[in-house]
Amino acid sequence: MTAEAAKKPPAHPSGDKRFKLLEVAMKRHQFRQDALIEVLHAAQELFGYLELDLLLFIARHLKLPPSRVYGVATFYHFFTLKPQGKHTCVVCTGTACFVKGADALLAAVSKQASVASGATTTDGELSLLTARCLGACGIAPAVVLDGKVMGHQDAATLLSELKGRLPDGTLGPA
Ligand code: FES
Repeated sequence: MTAEAAKKPPAHPSGDKRFKLLEVAMKRHQFRQDALIEVLHAAQELFGYLELDLLLFIARHLKLPPSRVYGVATFYHFFTLKPQGKHTCVVCTGTACFVKGADALLAAVSKQASVASGATTTDGELSLLTARCLGACGIAPAVVLDGKVMGHQDAATLLSELKGRLPDGTLGPA
């Protein structure tokens, strides 16, 4: 075994390929500790949410105390430690989106799907999340639906888009 290999933390015992992909993402950042936020983003994209086991895996690879990784993951709004629904709707509630009616979008989805912001519908179909600024203020109000950024949204457009993706029954009557 080379000295390099000996230093490397062991692969994840589950054999889940996503851990391998996450390792590649960390490698791209040269396992730098200051890339923690980017790494957490990559992890969330791969796994949908940041479970404890995943945070420990990241901590080991970046040689950071687990408490620091946990602290960062819980501090930022865009990270979630709970499993999400099959579909994710992130409504940006940053200033630019707020003045263009983001609160109405949030209220419309929340009411129709009977789900609070930050929660998942009881059938596990839809998670409704908020972001502080998606960096797309020019197309406010912006929403990310299943990873796709959509600008200039209004409640009717967003609800009809959701209706096309969700099974009957997840959204209540208009
Ligand atoms: S405030 Fe919504 S994208 Fe910036």
